[in-house]
Amino acid sequence: MPQTVEGAAPEHGLPKIGVVGMDPPHPTSQNRGVTFTIPGRLAAACRDVPERAAWLAQLPDLLRDLEQRWSLTIGAPFDGDEVSCAWVAPVALATGRSAVLKLGMPHMEGEHEIDGLRFWNGDPTVWLLEADDDLGAMLLEHCEPGTVLRTLPEPEQDLVIVPLLRRLWRSPMASHPFRPLSAMIAHWSEETLAQAEHWRDEGIVREGLRVFEELAISAPAHVMLATDLHAGNVLRARREPWLVIDPKPFVGDPAYDATQHLLNCDLRLRLDPDATIRRFADLLGVDYDRVRLWMFARAAAEPRNDWNDDPWTNLARAIAP
Ligand SMILES: Nc1ncnc2c1ncn2[C@@H]1O[C@H](COP(=O)(O)OP(=O)(O)O)[C@@H](O)[C@H]1O
Ligand SMILES: [Mg+2]
Repeated sequence: MPQTVEGAAPEHGLPKIGVVGMDPPHPTSQNRGVTFTIPGRLAAACRDVPERAAWLAQLPDLLRDLEQRWSLTIGAPFDGDEVSCAWVAPVALATGRSAVLKLGMPHMEGEHEIDGLRFWNGDPTVWLLEADDDLGAMLLEHCEPGTVLRTLPEPEQDLVIVPLLRRLWRSPMASHPFRPLSAMIAHWSEETLAQAEHWRDEGIVREGLRVFEELAISAPAHVMLATDLHAGNVLRARREPWLVIDPKPFVGDPAYDATQHLLNCDLRLRLDPDATIRRFADLLGVDYDRVRLWMFARAAAEPRNDWNDDPWTNLARAIAP
């Protein structure tokens, strides 16, 4: 989740700020005449984590296996700023219909994406057409034209994201596989503590960790959260004007789900954090104070790649309780 300033990829979490240089695509090994390219950000996210490096090394074999098993013709993978944690490509099915193949790299936040897509069942996410749970492989409904919501002005993005989030926040069934939001918060807090030698403002980080803990145990409701719903994970489609991709399901406080989109609204947050947070919380009908506290805790204490001259710490100072 670390914020990405230079090259390394965010799995999920604080968005990147500033200009990010794209790594060139990395061709994987060629086999039987087929070469699968690897987007630069995905390669960067896998480079220093042995489990992910092993997954990446196996990826060409997995793709060839799925190509046969699901009778696919695989196209060139999507690449660019929005691709960081998964290998995703358009495919043609045997029927000639198009779909999207996605294999997620191993990461804690994304472990239940397939279960989540089954739970939401196309409302308002993309349909899951096929899945291999062991491989983390999904065949998805193809959003066409697939334009990202990020291309619209932010106040318009707000109005699209609000009803999508409100539809996602359903109660999970009594027996469900999903983890509590507190598990993700505990995972992040552990990572942040492991980065203690790099912190620049210990007081604010410790306060952020305290608020994280307090919020995680005091949720007023326990609903299904996407946790990664931002304008880069909402695509133009035909079945509905906009569909959600890439959910990282956890169960917990709906106020948390306001934060991922808000953290992307960098300029608005810097100019007037209170008004920006209040507008979005009010549109969502969730408690402004809790959204603001979640924003504070994330900005102050979420793990990141670089704690120097850190814009998130400045935001945390501006909205500290
Ligand atoms: N169902 C889909 N239809 C069309 N394009 C898709 C679909 N799923 C993913 N994509 C494309 O792949 C990109 C990365 O997919 P995403 O699931 O967000 O991966 P990541 O986990 O790397 O964020 C998206 O920005 C979009 O361009
Ligand atoms: Mg995404």
